[in-house]
Amino acid sequence: MADATIAERWIEPPLQAREHTLCDADTYEAMYRRSIEEPDAFWDEQAARLEWITPPETIADWSFDPVAIRWFTGGTLNLCHNAVDRHVAAGRGETIALIFEPDDPAGEVRRITYAGLQREVIRMANTLKQLGVARGDRVTITMPMIPEAAFAMLACARIGAVHSVVFGGFSPDAIAGRVEDCASDWIICADGAVRGAKPVPLKAHVDAALQKVAAKAVLVVRHTGVDVTMVAGRDHWYHEASQGVAEDCPCEPMAADDPLFILYTSGSTGKPKGVLHTTGGYAVWTETTFRYVFDYRPGEIYWCTADIGWVTGHSYIVYGPLQNGATALMFEGVPNHPDHDRFWQVVAKHKVNIFYSAPTAIRSLMREGDGHVTKHDLSSLRLLGSVGEPINPEAWRWYHQVVGKGAVPIVDTWWQTETGGIMITTLPGAHPMKPGSAGRPFFGVCPQLVDGDGQVLDGATEGNLCISRSWPGQATTIYGDHERFVQTYFSTYPGKYFTGDGCRRDEDGYYWITGRVDDVINVSGHRLGTAEVESALVLHPRVAEAAVVGAPHDIKGQGIYCYVTLNVGEEPGEGLAAELRAHVRQEIGPIATPDFVHFTPGLPKTRSGKIMRRILRKIAENDFGSLGDTSTLADPSIVETLIDGRQNR
Ligand code: PRX
Repeated sequence: MADATIAERWIEPPLQAREHTLCDADTYEAMYRRSIEEPDAFWDEQAARLEWITPPETIADWSFDPVAIRWFTGGTLNLCHNAVDRHVAAGRGETIALIFEPDDPAGEVRRITYAGLQREVIRMANTLKQLGVARGDRVTITMPMIPEAAFAMLACARIGAVHSVVFGGFSPDAIAGRVEDCASDWIICADGAVRGAKPVPLKAHVDAALQKVAAKAVLVVRHTGVDVTMVAGRDHWYHEASQGVAEDCPCEPMAADDPLFILYTSGSTGKPKGVLHTTGGYAVWTETTFRYVFDYRPGEIYWCTADIGWVTGHSYIVYGPLQNGATALMFEGVPNHPDHDRFWQVVAKHKVNIFYSAPTAIRSLMREGDGHVTKHDLSSLRLLGSVGEPINPEAWRWYHQVVGKGAVPIVDTWWQTETGGIMITTLPGAHPMKPGSAGRPFFGVCPQLVDGDGQVLDGATEGNLCISRSWPGQATTIYGDHERFVQTYFSTYPGKYFTGDGCRRDEDGYYWITGRVDDVINVSGHRLGTAEVESALVLHPRVAEAAVVGAPHDIKGQGIYCYVTLNVGEEPGEGLAAELRAHVRQEIGPIATPDFVHFTPGLPKTRSGKIMRRILRKIAENDFGSLGDTSTLADPSIVETLIDGRQNR
């Protein structure tokens, strides 16, 4: 079946999803309307599911011009209390909070109850306090996908410290940059990580990062048992430092707008920015979105395959599920090790009911054939989810038919690090699905499609996706640089939050994300600024200039396509291309490894010296027919050279 035909077809939610749902179509309409017409009353009601130390005085308290975003002002609460302690106090202490499935299928599964989680978080919290961490301090966490990563985040939330989780696959330089930017004096890491049987020397990466920036203390969780160097006075083994700490640790009362965490993400310019989320709004947003989008029921096993280093891991492995008292699975490994059926084997083994993953993983598994899926009993699955990039209808159909046997709804959830949680999605029992479309706005979300001049477009149309009103999960600033926050998100279309995404809205009010419209590329669902890769390339002594764009990639969605100009006298070649790939990997991390290196004697520049990226994007896409006007280039002949270079690849 052609993609277009599949995409146009409505797929009704299966009967079982319609029968057991918190929210059917009419309820959605009524709740959505109320969330827009009476936002204060609506969010006051949603927030009432949380335990507040002091209830908020004001619900929505924001402006996009000038930019000041506050929610639940006057309220105090603690997110760790809401995610952990209150379940124990309510007699749900023996419910499993986290199931840990290790990288090695024969390794030990850990099951941690809410009461166990409370003990572990207190132990970590008191250890941090003993090392001198206090309310408001920033703590960098770079960890494998092990329960201690969640303990560390929750421990920070408990004592009012601000966590900054750095993905375990980042290079020492990337870690150092992030530690420095938020002046984080404490680092929590593990000795090592292992993914798909491949070791990652996490502590050694932290050591290398600390050659460039200072930290007061490093807390090291023993995990793989690999040999590490411990610097006396600075480095502490967690199992030693936590000996004999007190068994209680009060939850610090936090103001709703006190910072909860910083998470670095790439933008179109400059270095990654520290997106800051505050406590109250983020808590309400992750609790509410998890509840309605995943329609969680007690006793179900929920599995989100993201890494804790990304926002999906924050919101939908830790804070969303745990605030709902859910049982969340944490998986240390990768989809294709030891074989391509690993995901499905884990689903069958733990009888997973809700499975939330990314298009890139789905595409890579789809390629390996249906046999890996069909040999496992996946009858426990009730709901499938997708996040991170547009899912092509072909992959959607495979996910729906082969994984879900056509009987399970799919929620395609569009959101961003900055939005804190899900913004556009169908709800499982309420909406028919359209393969490739994220669907409808979540409660309180007001999407607008805007043209290049800032005109708001009505009806079925295509434009740049903005959000016209604040929602509780919205990031409030960029750490240490509020002006950059204002510039990045609110200056293109004053008075609106600009997402950086292009989007189409169809006649049924469904939203279809078409991808980034800025210089950010989405590689396997991870955001990467082209400027970051360019800066890494030009650091290489043989490179004169570089321009990086996204190019279609079967598995990753977008691949990293690098145009490179060498210094005079340097010779291009496969050897040098491999060297440049390794160099970028070293500078940023494996996720930034270039897919294509295209050596060129020059780049298409205007007479004023500006690189015309539009042309570079088209050539990388093998689309030579619509290059547009090239007559304003300083040297129009470079276009032919670039096309020849592309065709000869
Ligand atoms: O382009 C959109 C894409 O991922 C970007 C956000 O990336 P990040 O902040 O890393 O967060 C990823 C996980 C929430 C968006 O600007 N994106 C995310 N989800 C979808 C998507 N594009 C299409 N469909 C989605 N479901």
